[in-house]
Amino acid sequence: MSKKIFDIFSSIAGVYDVMGHLFSFGIDGLWREMTAKEALIEKNSYKILDVATGTGSIAIDIAKKAKKAKKQVEITAVDFNEDMLRIAEEKINKRKISNICVKIGDAMKLDEPDCYYDVVTTGFLLRNVDDTKVFAEELKRILKKTGKFILLGMGKPQNKLLNMFFKIYFSIIRLTGSLIDRRAYMWLTYSIMAFDRNKMLNILKDKGFKDLKIKNLPFHIAFIITGIK
Ligand SMILES: C[S@@+](CC[C@H](N)C(=O)[O-])C[C@H]1O[C@@H](n2cnc3c(N)ncnc32)[C@H](O)[C@@H]1O
Repeated sequence: MSKKIFDIFSSIAGVYDVMGHLFSFGIDGLWREMTAKEALIEKNSYKILDVATGTGSIAIDIAKKAKKAKKQVEITAVDFNEDMLRIAEEKINKRKISNICVKIGDAMKLDEPDCYYDVVTTGFLLRNVDDTKVFAEELKRILKKTGKFILLGMGKPQNKLLNMFFKIYFSIIRLTGSLIDRRAYMWLTYSIMAFDRNKMLNILKDKGFKDLKIKNLPFHIAFIITGIK
């Protein structure tokens, strides 16, 4: 477990949702909704794991969408940071959602059984783990045969112009963010620019996942990778 990442999220847990909405002009909500939509598969009753759930937004979006679609889903939402999970629990209780179970868990060594989940989601985890290969192995271990994963992430845009735009915009984020927590917003912008989505896709391919797809989301800073075990 990375102590630096753990400490960053403990320090910003209370402002995480608000700052995310502000810095993305609210588009982060749309990205999570698109992720949640992918989690609605053909089955009517199934198990979902949301890894690095943070303040629980993706898990909550899935629960809402599944209810609308009249699907019975059992959602487990894990994160290694109890400060983020405390907020997730508050949000879940406030909305009276009963099919999300929140618990501590490390994406590098999940305390989940083999071949157990029909769907695994994660939002903005990939940049934060010590080793994405280890996470890909865990993904393969816990998914059922033909289970689906949906990975929402952020990384360096592949378009030169957008790249330049984000370099400038990120300096504004670093400046504003430093009023709250300099280290957290330095890490956010650095880790996004350092993350290579195609490398991740190749790791998943090497691990034997099938039907791999990558969808670049509006503004190309965010993406969703989906695949099947
Ligand atoms: C950027 S936040 C994303 C939270 C949430 N998924 C969302 O959509 O807002 C990243 C989260 O990953 C968690 N995290 C980072 N490394 C982790 C690990 N190895 N195991 C579990 N959670 C981890 C952090 O605690 C934090 O809550």
